[in-house]
Amino acid sequence: MSKTVQLIIDNKSYELPVVEGSENEKAIDISKLRAQTGYITLDTGYKNTGATKSGITFLDGEKGILSYRGYPIEQLAEKADFLEVCYLLIYGDLPSTKEFNAFKENITNHTLIHEDMRIFLDAYPTKAHPMGILSAAVCTLSTFYPESQKQNRSDEAVDLTIQRLLAKLPTLAAWAYKNSIGHPVNYPKNKYSYCENFLNMMFAMPAFDYEPDPVVVNALNKLLILHADHEQNCSASTVRIVGSSQANLYASISSGVSALWGPLHGGANQAVIEMLEKIMVDGGGLMKWINKAKDKDDSFRLMGFGHRVYKNFDPRAKIIKKAADDVLNKLGIVDPVLDIAKELEEVALNDDYFKSRGLYPNVDFYSGIIYRALGIPTEMFTVMFAMGRLPGWIAQWKEMMADNQPIGRPRQIYTGSKERDYSDIHKR
Ligand code: SDX
Repeated sequence: MSKTVQLIIDNKSYELPVVEGSENEKAIDISKLRAQTGYITLDTGYKNTGATKSGITFLDGEKGILSYRGYPIEQLAEKADFLEVCYLLIYGDLPSTKEFNAFKENITNHTLIHEDMRIFLDAYPTKAHPMGILSAAVCTLSTFYPESQKQNRSDEAVDLTIQRLLAKLPTLAAWAYKNSIGHPVNYPKNKYSYCENFLNMMFAMPAFDYEPDPVVVNALNKLLILHADHEQNCSASTVRIVGSSQANLYASISSGVSALWGPLHGGANQAVIEMLEKIMVDGGGLMKWINKAKDKDDSFRLMGFGHRVYKNFDPRAKIIKKAADDVLNKLGIVDPVLDIAKELEEVALNDDYFKSRGLYPNVDFYSGIIYRALGIPTEMFTVMFAMGRLPGWIAQWKEMMADNQPIGRPRQIYTGSKERDYSDIHKR
């Protein structure tokens, strides 16, 4: 007997079904509320509203728990290969050796971009932000593979598009970077792993040989895993709602890239470094900036702090903070910005304003420090986030399509003018 809750409106009682998840989360199913009562619910920013059931990622914001298909993020970040995690998120289970080798082989064979895309990429102004290029380039891929725009695609056709996206995003990202600094692009090489290939395309130059450093490759693999999915965040919800109109997967992913760009979402990793550098140059001490962040009349926020769901430590931030120390030590890098980040964290976590609001460092607070140590430029940080999040966006889209979910179309409460007549302009 499924549980219900009672809702009393104008002295009339309504029974609403309760939905309970595998981790005992509970929701009131309001899918028939308007038909039964004439009422809708209002929840700006969807802070209390579930958009879907999902079996992909579980997170507990109070306990700081995050798992992909039941596997704790700590284990995956420590032991898995990023492409293994892509397979897990998209297809639901960790691959066998045979499945994994076939998956890797397919992706390796699709890393090249059609040469006509070079003309498209070369047309961008130097200094073009790579996220603007990436979002447009991903959507443009759909024009090179028009069969991906058809409805009712076969599983094989969808798998091919998934492989193309996973394979080509690093190439597009590296080419967008090379374009922004006026350097010649590097082509993917099949001898390299996923992360090695990206690093080679980013940093190889005609004048010298480049060999990816294993420390850098391992750190990148870990960062991509930590960013791979995060249930119904802003960009995943964007991918779902665009996909729900039956737009093709390239267009849906392109919309996710755009949503991620915002400084309140994936753009925060770039904003954190810019904030820390500003604090370092300002020399005015940390309390000046902590107080600005607390001042309601000041638009300054502590970037990389706070989270819609985590009201305790973001488990990814813990792992990245340790990885930052490890990578900088192994590479012999001393970055004063890391010291400022640690001091800022220490001061904020002892301040009641942040503690009372459950504001802790999130995934973006330390990630930029590692990207800097890996030689990745600040404007590429959110591109790195997009590369990591791609399998999560694909998995969310695939789950929504498999569920045959209806087109997403929220309601509203109208608060504008009541009916009035048009008047000729000379009478106004
Ligand atoms: C990501 O959703 C996801 O899962 C996202 C993500 C993912 O993996 O996909 O985890 C990735 O986007 C991480 C978040 C990156 N963004 C930032 O670091 C930007 C800084 N953080 C804030 O803008 C904010 O914390 C948000 C946007 C992350 C969350 O905002 P909410 O949930 O809407 O919370 P809120 O704005 O209502 O804040 C609650 C209170 C407010 O104060 P009061 O009105 O209660 O007095 O906390 C304050 C806010 O002013 N507050 C901050 C703050 N964040 C919230 N005050 C100072 N500095 C901050 N960073």
